[in-house]
Amino acid sequence: MKIGILTAGGDCPGLNAAIRGVGKTAMVEFGMRVYGFASGFSGLIDNDYIELTEGQFSGMLTEGGTLLGTSREKPFKHKKNGAKPVYTKPDKIKENYKNLELDALVCIGGNGTQKTANLLAQEGLNVIGIPKTIDNDVWGTDMTFGFDSALQIATDAIDRLHSTANSHKRTMVIELMGHHAGWLALNAGLASGGDLILIPEIPYQKEAIIRYLKKRHAMKKPYSIVVIAEGIRKEGKRSAAAYIGDLIKNETGFETRETILGYIQRGGTPSPTDRILATRFGAYAAEMIARREFGKMVALKGSCLTSISLEEAGTRTRVVDPDQPLIRMARYMGASFGDEL
Ligand code: F6P
Repeated sequence: MKIGILTAGGDCPGLNAAIRGVGKTAMVEFGMRVYGFASGFSGLIDNDYIELTEGQFSGMLTEGGTLLGTSREKPFKHKKNGAKPVYTKPDKIKENYKNLELDALVCIGGNGTQKTANLLAQEGLNVIGIPKTIDNDVWGTDMTFGFDSALQIATDAIDRLHSTANSHKRTMVIELMGHHAGWLALNAGLASGGDLILIPEIPYQKEAIIRYLKKRHAMKKPYSIVVIAEGIRKEGKRSAAAYIGDLIKNETGFETRETILGYIQRGGTPSPTDRILATRFGAYAAEMIARREFGKMVALKGSCLTSISLEEAGTRTRVVDPDQPLIRMARYMGASFGDEL
């Protein structure tokens, strides 16, 4: 068999481990030929690929980023040209897939990638999805790879804020990524003892934030750590951190500083958990190809690997359920989500 692999969307730690997982299993175990497409779906549209060799996988497991490169190209997003849609990119993809005589295509990516993978499957290609993202918001899997590494980086950053916050008796606001989901802020907030945790899934009230911080102050708590997800509701074009930071400064008068952790969350070597998960996902995807189990995304359910249809994975987003036990436990620890007056 001949298979293609691509990595699409924002990068994250573990992409190389996943490429290696697919590649080694496909080549060594099943004798398949493996082609890597450059820069996500762009490489598939432009026919920009290389045939991968086993030797290329040496040293890849621990490396951040992606050997193949990535992009946010969305081939099905077409511009309207009068009444007639311009619809050439999916046709190019089908043509290149056919000319290379591919038997399957593995798309490693987040929500947008699974959506495109589903549309390509509907166009008749044999597609398999592998879920990755630091946001952990892909529907149908309990975890995406990339999340654990980002969580470690975010937790370390917040840990470091504690000491400087304490020295200056300040309120520290830290903004984490996560797109429209609060998984990273919730988990990093919990792991690092954040006092106020704001996530998009739990609407906050300004008065509740102020009251909570003033109460801490009255209790002689020397400082406060505010962990916020980038996707929380806010007004205007300022960052979420600036918006909440200004609110706190103006309403409490407390000395407040903001940190936006940014792309550091996505960079560098994957954690052991992500290396293992990415390897498992990759190897399982190759097994699925060998079984000709197409139109599905690899998924983790509990501690077991399974798969779900791309139709399902590509059309929904997994966000934090405000009623889930983790929220309750965080509240037991004294954390506030800015929703209780
Ligand atoms: O989806 C991963 C992610 O890092 C989000 O957390 C963030 O909102 C977004 O990508 C940033 O996108 P870009 O890489 O296009 O700036």
